[in-house]
Order: sequence, then structure tokens, then C-alpha cells
Amino acid sequence: MSVLIKGGRIVTAADDYIGDVFIENERVSLIGESLDVQADKLIDASGKYVIPGAIDPHTHMEMPFGRTVSCDDFTSGTISAAFGGTTSLVDFCLQEKGQSLPDALATWHEKIERAKPVIDVGFHLAVTDLEEGGTLEDLAKAPDEGVTSYKLFMAYKGVIMVDDETLFKTMQVAAETGSLVMVHAENGDAIDVLVKQALAEGKTEPKWHAATRPPITEGEATNRAIQLARIAGCPLYVVHVSCKEAIGSIAQARTNDWHAWGETCTHYLFIDETALDRPNFEGAKYVYTPPPRPQENQEHLWHALTTDVLSVVSTDHCPFNWDGQKTLGRDDFSKIPNGGPGIENRLHMLHHFGVRQGRLSMNRFVELLSTNPAKFFGMYPRKGTIAVGSDADIVVFDPEKGVTLSAETHHSNVDYSLFEGTEVSGAPEVVLVRGQVIVEDDKLVGKPGDGKFVERARFGEELPSMTRTG
Ligand code: URP
Ligand code: ZN
Ligand code: ZN
Repeated sequence: MSVLIKGGRIVTAADDYIGDVFIENERVSLIGESLDVQADKLIDASGKYVIPGAIDPHTHMEMPFGRTVSCDDFTSGTISAAFGGTTSLVDFCLQEKGQSLPDALATWHEKIERAKPVIDVGFHLAVTDLEEGGTLEDLAKAPDEGVTSYKLFMAYKGVIMVDDETLFKTMQVAAETGSLVMVHAENGDAIDVLVKQALAEGKTEPKWHAATRPPITEGEATNRAIQLARIAGCPLYVVHVSCKEAIGSIAQARTNDWHAWGETCTHYLFIDETALDRPNFEGAKYVYTPPPRPQENQEHLWHALTTDVLSVVSTDHCPFNWDGQKTLGRDDFSKIPNGGPGIENRLHMLHHFGVRQGRLSMNRFVELLSTNPAKFFGMYPRKGTIAVGSDADIVVFDPEKGVTLSAETHHSNVDYSLFEGTEVSGAPEVVLVRGQVIVEDDKLVGKPGDGKFVERARFGEELPSMTRTG
């Protein structure tokens, strides 16, 4: 099957020009002006952007949390992703306490066998236990199977939190194997004390989720992880940065050229702590971790994205239905499953409020959502760009298409949207994964199984630039 995308404005992290893209055998085979080639399918992209498919390096499909499980599997979650212009994601394979690391990976492979994805999928290995189930030897073998990033939670005490010893030993293995360490950076011990004290005082409503996880707990853990990574000599990627305290630690690392980087997520740019106070337990929809912060943090996050202190915007898509899942915590905020949806709306929100409102250039938009994730997570230049030889993961994006974001129209299983009613201009029109059309004209054309497991390369030399300013 060959495809010709004609006359679009091709934008990568570095370029911006009008041209045609010819695709054969899943890859881009020619790029040029007015290409004279025969194709099985022609896509007229005039007036549209032609951009590399977005990559979401932070999702939780079918993730167990307390007494429940996040409500998208790899089929529904990747369909939702595709409608939003995301063509690859990297999900967290979560080791159960006592489970061996190969078993954990086998469990996640079974998930994508059972609920087959429509876009490409890779795994990070989330290590929760190196005493009972996990071993350093097994950790060192994961990169041989294309799993080249380890994730550790510095919070969620008594559930999946690791101590500094486990974190540091994992960092040492990462330094040896050329893997990237990712951290959820919050001081879980301090938070555990604050949560217990709040509950003892009868403070049970959703707003106490934020009050018991103050920004300094994130700043402290971020700095601790950065310093431990320096000692171990491994690269570090801090997930879901939400506040100026954590930004400050990462800015220090970037200035000193320490190998530590950070991402934020769409919701931290738009939702503040007051959302937790919404009446009738609506606030529970915004119980994700780190929590929504005081609004002033949003400007710090935008600034960090434009000055390259933060390198990626992910979604941390971890959907739980309000009805029946979030409501598990009606009488106790600590029982509300932590997580929010968002995989379908990252491009909508970042294009409308980032690019259209002059905060981000189109190049930076592509860099944050596609090129940098590909570079950090061992997929570049196979993915994350439009170049001859690259996988033809491409989005034809109509910058003028008006859309109202809503749970009524999204494709995730979840029963609410964090951005309900938000009107944006700009939406994906055609989405291709390795040259195959998956979404066209608001319809799913692809099918489960069109997405494949991506074996990722080890952390490479191709690191994101540190100098971008626009
Ligand atoms: O609240 C969140 N973010 N849930 C998913 C797990 C995590 O901490 O990323
Ligand atoms: Zn987290
Ligand atoms: Zn997460």
C-alpha cells in the first residue's frame, strides 16, 4: 500500500515547508515538491499541517490502583490516542510486589495480546520491589527486550513506593545498561504522615488530596533523585512535573548539564487546585498525583517549556470513571483512585492554547509532543520526525477545525473529560501509523492489532537540544 500526502505544510522539530510525502512499505520513501508518483491512496493536505505522529511516553492502561483498575485497555486507550493524533505510546508495566520482573513484562505483553492496540506501544518497567521478586540481574536484562527505561515511584507509601536504596541500585543498573531512569518524585514518607493526620482530623474531602501533598514534597524528591542519579551516573527523566519547586531543581540540572530532564502533562497547564473543591464530589475528577497546583504554577510551566527546562508534554492518561471508581473515595479522599484521562486532547489543547496563542512555535509543538519523546525513549529517528526512511507515523492536522472537547464525543471508556466544554480550533484530520490510515474524517479506519510492540533502543547520544527559546 502506497500513500501520497500532497501539498501540506510539513513541520518537524527543525523544518517548516510545503511539500509532498510519499509512503511505501510503512515508511517515508520520498519527500519533495509536486512529486510525480502513482499512489494507492492520495491525501490532499493543502492548508493543513503534516506533522510526525505524537508520542505519549506516559500512560497507564488497565493499571491496578487500590481496589480498582484504570478503565481503558490497550484497545480503547489507543483508539482514543489515535483520534487525538498520537501514534505511539509507552505505558508503564507495573511489577506487583513479589512478582519477578520477567513475569511483570509477560503480564503487560498479555494485555496487548488480549486487547490489541491500534497504535504502536512500548513499555517502561516500573520497579516496585527488588527484595522479594525483582532482581538486579533481571533488571539488567530488560533492555535486551526493548524495554530501555525503568520507572520508580518515590511516593504511594506501602503500595508501590520504593526507598532510596532500591532507587539508587536501579540507577546503578541503568548506568551500566544504558537505560533511562524515570521517577515519580514526591516525598512519600512526609505525604503519608500528612494524609494520616488530615484523616484523623476528619478532613476527608477531595481538596485534602492537594493539601497533603504540598509542592515542596515534589521539589525535595526531584532534587534528591537528581543528586542520586549524578552519583550513580545514569540519565534521569522526572515525570509529571507540576510546580515551580520541581522546575527549579530541573533548571539547576539543565544549567549544569547534569543528565536530568523533565516532562509536564497537559492538565497541569490548565487546571488548578480550586477544581478539587467542585461541589457534589465533582472535585474527585481532579484527584491525580501530583495534585492540581495553585494557578501561578501554570505560568512557570509554560515558561519552562519555552526555555527548554522542561522537554516533553505527556498526558499521564490514567482514567477512572467518576461513577463507581472515583466514588470509592466519597468518605475518604485517600481512597479515590489517583489519575485522570487526557490521551485524546493533548494536541488539541497544546495547539490551541500553545501555538495559536503564541506561546509555542509549531516546531516546538512537534518537538515537545513527538521528537523529544522519541529521542528520550529510543525511537528516534525511526519515529518523531518526517524523514526518508522514518516510520510513516504522520498526522494531517487541520489548524482551523473547530472542536468542543467532551466526554460525549471522546473515545476513551472514561465517563468524564478534564476539559469538558473547552472549544478549540485545530484537530487531527488523518492519522497514519506506519503508513496505514487509522483515523480519517472522525472515523476509525484502523483495527485492533494494527499497532505493534516497539522495541526501543538504549538511551543514546541523540539528546534534545538545550538551547531552544521559542
Ligand atoms: O495520579 C496519577 N498520576 N496516577 C497514575 C500513577 C502516577 O502516579 O503516575
Ligand atoms: Zn506518578
Ligand atoms: Zn503516571
